[in-house]
Amino acid sequence: MANVLVIHGPNLNLLGSREPEVYGADTLDAINQNLSQMAQQNGVNLQTFQSNNEGEIVSCIQQAANNQVDFIIINPAAYTHTSVAIRDAFLATRIPFIETHLSNVYAREEFRMHSYLSDIALGVVSGFGKTSYLLALEAAVIHCKQSVKQRTE
Ligand code: DQA
Repeated sequence: MANVLVIHGPNLNLLGSREPEVYGADTLDAINQNLSQMAQQNGVNLQTFQSNNEGEIVSCIQQAANNQVDFIIINPAAYTHTSVAIRDAFLATRIPFIETHLSNVYAREEFRMHSYLSDIALGVVSGFGKTSYLLALEAAVIHCKQSVKQRTE
């Protein structure tokens, strides 16, 4: 059974009330529930984590490597555009990950168009609201199945 971790960055705990015209009306709990349901249907062990603190996110990624996490889906939120520390944590652990955004960051302010993670991510999903997370999980499931197949061939 694949272990997938979903990390939500700063201010995403406010989803539902935070700029709903940009980020949608769903709460973080509702998104996590949707993800858990989809994970269960696909035989995936899913854990979720939210933090407003850069260092906690770095520690979470480091710990994931010790806890046999196979794949990470991360919405780094504002840290997307600022965090060398989160980039370095992914480079250090080599856990494959998908960068995920609710909004289309390329259709917004210029500073959101740069990401410290995109070039080292397996892929990026941006602009589909809560569906961005579900698409990322679908891709994660496919990736994990392919990895198992390759290992057993
Ligand atoms: C976000 C986009 C970021 O630019 C922003 O700072 C966020 C949320 C998104 O999901 O669309 O907090 O990652």
